[in-house]
Amino acid sequence: MLDINMQKGKILVTGGAGYIGSHASLVLLEEGYEVVVLDNLINASQEALRRVEHIAGRSLTFIKGDVRDRACLDQLFSEHDIYAVIHFAGLKAVGESVAQPLAYYDTNVGGSLTLCRAMDAAGVFRLVFSSSATVYGPDAPVPYHESMPRGSTSNPYGTSKSIVEKTLEDISHSDKRWSIVLLRYFNPIGAHPSGRLGEDPQGVPNNLLPFIAQVAVGRRQTLTIFGNDYATDDGTCVRDYLHVMDLAEGHVGALGRLNLAGLHIYNLGTGKGVSVLQMVEAFERVSERPIPYQFAPRRDGDLAAFWADAQKAEQELGWRARRGLDEMIADTWRWQCKNPQGYCANAKERGAKS
Ligand code: NAD
Ligand code: WQD
Repeated sequence: MLDINMQKGKILVTGGAGYIGSHASLVLLEEGYEVVVLDNLINASQEALRRVEHIAGRSLTFIKGDVRDRACLDQLFSEHDIYAVIHFAGLKAVGESVAQPLAYYDTNVGGSLTLCRAMDAAGVFRLVFSSSATVYGPDAPVPYHESMPRGSTSNPYGTSKSIVEKTLEDISHSDKRWSIVLLRYFNPIGAHPSGRLGEDPQGVPNNLLPFIAQVAVGRRQTLTIFGNDYATDDGTCVRDYLHVMDLAEGHVGALGRLNLAGLHIYNLGTGKGVSVLQMVEAFERVSERPIPYQFAPRRDGDLAAFWADAQKAEQELGWRARRGLDEMIADTWRWQCKNPQGYCANAKERGAKS
């Protein structure tokens, strides 16, 4: 059991039942933090949190609620002495955001504003926000560095992240009590090494790794590779993939930065690019399964290649991505094999989309 001296502050994790939030909640519990998760389960299952508690050997507090619900937030802050908030809750499918911009601005922007108002009223001024490399926009030179300005984004999802970033920047300038960390994630993949926590997309996966994993396990027949005519070494797009456990650990580093007022921005990536074809070859090697694929035209909005300049996080947070590509794939594959249908035994707990 945890030594009482290890007890640290209470962290509110919004969206803590989701892919990244569940891994981060686990790492927080293992680091001795108390965790309160607020999630409406629109894209998650409470089963993930049961597994988090089981792996950690500690319990957390789960509140099923919406980050846009001010009364729910006020009650939460009155009942829990929250040290800091890590705000993962949001919608994240780029294509869906083009079709449903209102839902994306409502949840991602509206939810963040409501959260900040409730924090202000409760006197909680420490916030870590899940942002994305997408805010650099299509014209930024690689590698992306935090000193570069935000660019224009081509979809409501990306724009919602930029709007929240800018709002938080303005809040931090207006009131010196705020300490805010913006974490710009690159491409998180992988799963907890136990194979019990992982990414559980609904329907056809939008992202590369879940799709490859479902082909490897036989749930889908063929991977479609969007574009082989990019100006990259093999013609396919290049991304900076990082292990979700490294990403989760980055949030603990970010909490350490919240003793400094103001706004602090960090890329969380490996600093290395991997092409789609390199990923397919590596997955075939690690899983010892064939990944049949076909080429198709480019996907709207995809950029040819980007990766992080990851030095600032190392220098200021003491964080760097430690796990390599084979480990990311092996952990994805273990999760996929152990949970071929995801957390679906509990799928009824999901929200409106189920
Ligand atoms: P996810 O969908 O697995 O997790 C998001 C969680 O938020 C889910 O559990 C969902 O049920 C919950 N949620 C959604 N709307 C809510 C609301 N109104 N109130 C309460 N809970 C709500 O996504 P993820 O991959 O874990 O992403 C977490 C965060 O990181 C998101 O903000 C996302 O935009 C950001 N991000 C993700 C990636 C990525 O590739 N996964 C990259 C960059 C940034
Ligand atoms: C990676 C590469 C695809 C699926 C997205 C969001 C970004 C961030 C992370 C949240 C691309 C190719 C994919 C497939 C393919 N999310 N691909 N066949 O597009 O870099 O980033 O997720 O913040 O904002 O845009 O990740 O995994 O979708 O794609 O060929 O079936 O794989 O074209 O080159 P992306 P991805």
